[in-house]
Amino acid sequence: MKPPLKVLLFGMGGQVGWELQRSLSLLGQLIALDFDSADCCGDFTNLQGLAATVQRVRPDVIVNAAAHNAVDKAESEPELAHTINALAPGVLAHEAAKLSALLVHYSTDYVFDGSGSRPWIEADTPSPLSVYGQTKLLGEQLIQVACPHHLIFRTSWVYAARGSNFAKTMLRLAQERERLTVIDDQFGAPTGADLLADVTAHAIRQVLLHPADAGLYHLVAGGETSWYGYAKHVIAHVERAHTAIEIVAKTVGPVPTSAFPTPAKRPHNSRLDTTKLKATFGLSLPKWQQGVERMLNEII
Ligand SMILES: NC(=O)c1ccc[n+]([C@@H]2O[C@H](COP(=O)([O-])OP(=O)(O)OC[C@H]3O[C@@H](n4cnc5c(N)ncnc54)[C@H](OP(=O)(O)O)[C@@H]3O)[C@@H](O)[C@H]2O)c1
Repeated sequence: MKPPLKVLLFGMGGQVGWELQRSLSLLGQLIALDFDSADCCGDFTNLQGLAATVQRVRPDVIVNAAAHNAVDKAESEPELAHTINALAPGVLAHEAAKLSALLVHYSTDYVFDGSGSRPWIEADTPSPLSVYGQTKLLGEQLIQVACPHHLIFRTSWVYAARGSNFAKTMLRLAQERERLTVIDDQFGAPTGADLLADVTAHAIRQVLLHPADAGLYHLVAGGETSWYGYAKHVIAHVERAHTAIEIVAKTVGPVPTSAFPTPAKRPHNSRLDTTKLKATFGLSLPKWQQGVERMLNEII
């Protein structure tokens, strides 16, 4: 009998990592690590330790959900972001290639400069505005060079029931303040960590059978909105749900990005075109509202 597939997951405690623990466990033997795991090194600042982990576990598939995700903080700690988002994935790619393993990695809409209004396709030229975006782009490139047998999923505006996210912050503020203002000139699709994890497991199975389907894909929920539209939807859904939660916010006002200056510049157009993913893997991606409402129903 064939031995079970061995899957090595990094970043198991993050939004996506947490959901991957569920979806990847169906594929075979799952070894899931965090930065402080005791048995094997999962710390992305320890590049030799990461290489040793892969050499010791000898996985068939490596899934990397770890990242330096603090977009503003990355501006003041670029070396750390560079190590975690670029050098460490590069090491994983090098080690994966030596084992002929598949490497799965996540990237971001922030590799683009946000110009125009057309959804970005995989073939568009990236031009990141921030340290976070630059380091994530370099991570993609190091993987593409070292390990052709990869899946890179660019996604956007990730949320999960577990951990903090924009929807939860809006819900808290709507219980504290009578007037909220929210950015209405950045556009994208809120995407659930559960959706990312489920698509990942599906795509891994397919790529193991059809290696030619490996590559770079845009993966976001269907439809689009602004942060303002997202906030309005969250508040309206909670109001409709008639829970004990008391919304005191009477108005939610749209404001431009310039109303909230931040260290990192963010793209205005974060729309990602998912045609390639849907066609290759035979999937349909639900509208963003569906997943957001499901997450809200879980937490309220
Ligand atoms: N969140 C978004 O809106 C978004 C948007 C586009 C793309 N993405 C991409 O999607 C992927 C998953 O994101 P996510 O939302 O699940 O992120 P997340 O919740 O911030 O999870 C990232 C994980 O990486 C871990 N980590 C941080 N520093 C580490 C280190 N030195 N060594 C090992 N692990 C370390 C974190 O641990 P601690 O929590 O303990 O620090 C956390 O468990 C990332 O590649 C990210 O770039 C995310």
